[in-house]
Amino acid sequence: MSDRIQGLARRALTHLQAGTTDQANDILQLPVAMYTDPQRYSREVQRVFRELPIAVALSLELPEPGSYKAMNLMDVPLLLVRGEDRVVRAFLNVCRHRGAQVCAEGGGKARVFACPYHAWVYNHHGELAGRYAADTFGDIDASQYGLVSLPCAEKSGVVFAMVSPHRTFDIDQWLGDFAQEIGTLDLSSWHLFEQRDLPGPGWKVTMDGYLEAYHHNIVHGRTVGQFTIGNLLVLDTWGPHQRLTFGRKSLPELANQPEEAWRPDVHVRLIHNCFPNLSISGILGDHCLVSQVFPGKTPDTTITRQSVLSAKKPETEAELAATRTFSAMTLQAVQDEDYVLGFSIQKAILSGANDHFLIGRNEPAVQNYHRWVAYFTRSNAGAEW
Ligand code: FES
Ligand SMILES: [Fe+2]
Repeated sequence: MSDRIQGLARRALTHLQAGTTDQANDILQLPVAMYTDPQRYSREVQRVFRELPIAVALSLELPEPGSYKAMNLMDVPLLLVRGEDRVVRAFLNVCRHRGAQVCAEGGGKARVFACPYHAWVYNHHGELAGRYAADTFGDIDASQYGLVSLPCAEKSGVVFAMVSPHRTFDIDQWLGDFAQEIGTLDLSSWHLFEQRDLPGPGWKVTMDGYLEAYHHNIVHGRTVGQFTIGNLLVLDTWGPHQRLTFGRKSLPELANQPEEAWRPDVHVRLIHNCFPNLSISGILGDHCLVSQVFPGKTPDTTITRQSVLSAKKPETEAELAATRTFSAMTLQAVQDEDYVLGFSIQKAILSGANDHFLIGRNEPAVQNYHRWVAYFTRSNAGAEW
């Protein structure tokens, strides 16, 4: 691992010393309609968020057999369950009798799932395992009335699912070597300290902010910007997935140390962006912010699920205080800084001032993201996965 981070630190230091950053070949002009057109939006959401695997949870949210999580994502009622075989399965959380949501939103451990309406019971495999007063109801073939399953796979500490039933995907093909890259974070061994859902601006406005360091000094001077160098980006890509490396403010110290003595992980910050909706940001050594972005009903809204992780469960007062401080800082950086800017863009986006936005050469990850969205929307490429 350190070889890999050593190389990233070397690249970041070279940029710092030269006053450069990784760049795209050209400036990209993006028609503003790409952000606003409702027809385009619904097609993109269908192709990108409903027909590709998306990150729906972290493995650590489903730690044991019987652990479950029920949630509504993009109007899809979703139930995730870890079975006795330790496999995580995804279902539509909808009773096959007359459609009540079987499990209340939230998480925990359950032996079975009993529908709150007429007490039909489903097991961890989603099978219909019992019906209240079945002899009066009449005979049915129970094997045909299990919960509807969704394609689901767990990899590198993340649970991926496709929210369209009757499709399949191959997670190894989808992630490629990015799976090992996320695997180095050892996400399953972390502790979930807090989780919250933040309303945000439109999907693309929101994602753009996760994919560049250009705004950091200007927007985040009082929060995460204290620790990172603005407008310095080292970028690596694995198909649509991207790893952004930022320099921490201490990066210049490396210039005065022999490479053998470097502790490179102290001086760079990695952000793993798993297309289309997951960002894992190691802002400070023992803490990590995981963001899942879900598009809203219209092009101008999203929900971001923020999970604040600590390397281990904070126990001492000092550990608790440090984790609370980190959590408050990330909330402030995203809600009071990034999303305030995002909402400001959103309010003015239909003003007619711009017919296109410019994505700079110093914003290559933003360019890549938009190109992959266009690729998956235009082609039927999603079907390959
Ligand atoms: S709707 Fe679930 S048991 Fe009737
Ligand atoms: Fe930001």
